[in-house]
Amino acid sequence: MALDRKPAPNDLDAFWMPFTANRQFKAAPRMLVGSKDMYYYSADGREILDGCAGLWCCNAGHCRPKITEAVQKQVAELDYAPAFQMGHPLAFELANRIIDIAPEGMKHVFYTNSGSESVETALKLAIGYHKAKGDTGRYRLIGREKGYHGVNFGGMSVGGIASNRKTFGPLLNGVDHMRHTYLPEENRYTKGQPEHGAYLADELERIIALHGAETIAAVIVEPMSGSAGVILPPKGYLQKLREITKKHGILLIFDEVITGYGRLGAAFGAQHYGVTPDLMTTAKGLTNGVIPMGAVITTGEIYDAYMNAPEGMIELFHGYTYSGSPIAAAAGIATLETYKEEALFERAAEMAPYWQDALHSLKGVKNVIDIRNTGLIGAVELEPIPGAPTKRAFAAFLKGFEKGIMVRTTGDIIAMSPPLIISKAQIDQLIGTLKDVLESID
Ligand SMILES: Cc1ncc(COP(=O)(O)O)c(C=O)c1O
Repeated sequence: MALDRKPAPNDLDAFWMPFTANRQFKAAPRMLVGSKDMYYYSADGREILDGCAGLWCCNAGHCRPKITEAVQKQVAELDYAPAFQMGHPLAFELANRIIDIAPEGMKHVFYTNSGSESVETALKLAIGYHKAKGDTGRYRLIGREKGYHGVNFGGMSVGGIASNRKTFGPLLNGVDHMRHTYLPEENRYTKGQPEHGAYLADELERIIALHGAETIAAVIVEPMSGSAGVILPPKGYLQKLREITKKHGILLIFDEVITGYGRLGAAFGAQHYGVTPDLMTTAKGLTNGVIPMGAVITTGEIYDAYMNAPEGMIELFHGYTYSGSPIAAAAGIATLETYKEEALFERAAEMAPYWQDALHSLKGVKNVIDIRNTGLIGAVELEPIPGAPTKRAFAAFLKGFEKGIMVRTTGDIIAMSPPLIISKAQIDQLIGTLKDVLESID
């Protein structure tokens, strides 16, 4: 690809970078200036194979013409339209297209701008739903250790990654957490869903007994915990959560911000795992990462409960300036069309066994202590350097970038989630380079 080389910015100080070691980055910047299909292009003119779909979001690969053109056209036609008491056709069209691919029973879409906002929205919808039905005592929210639900106060409170929470005070009241499902001793090197750990869902019964079901509004989990390092649900675990929540009239929220839009080889994790929640939070792959947009998908029952408000009155006092904005909606429609035309969800399912084998070929490589995978997601866990956790994986990330691959790290886990268009040769390139990297670092 011919690159229009841009001069490197001469002052990196003003941008306070998110989830980044700012001082380290600014001392040795890793700048991306172009992208196409499976590749990024760095400011120093190198091709970087994208092992992460950006940040778990560019599921169709980069700069896809249909999406690019849809955005270009829309920005010149209707740049912005409010969604409060006004509408524009694309937001309605996209909602219908999302419902088309959602699990049966899912009937409505509430737009947000990110995964974090989707989570806040879903938590509010859950509490408000019970209130709308006259069940006014249900305010508690149950999350899970190691869960990641974005960075706003609700999501942080139900989330269970200590480093994301501990700086920010007491967080929300009325939140409790189930145990995580990370069982390295029992499940090490499992291919796909682990056998052990369904019993961990019974923990919810203990929490319900402690607080009283009549105080609990919702349970939120990622069907597969991505950000904590790719922790899969043990076989039967999600089914049990569904049974228990149903039995007690508690809503089940699946945070599908990563698992949504094909990542596991089905439209959503719900379909992949065969468990339908009451609400699903999504973002990222909805617009292929091109324009910020999120969507909370709900059952008809939840929407209908709100529609009992007096006629002519606003039923839900919630929404964002950019909820369902025309450009994002155009990007969303073009993205879902691209997924469909290229059968990318099916492709992810077809490639998953090859991906699994390639990933597990790293067993026995220096410092590797576990490998996990599902759909087109993989994690390689490294033995931490004694007294210096996260350093080894970060060194692998830096070395990988130097050698032309982009992976992500969380703790001492290397996580990968390539665009669903990845070829077998590119899987070989990604895993082969990662192997060289791991062999070459201490
Ligand atoms: C499961 C889950 N929920 C929520 C979020 C937050 O999304 P965003 O960064 O778009 O706010 C993420 C981001 O990775 C996520 O993985």
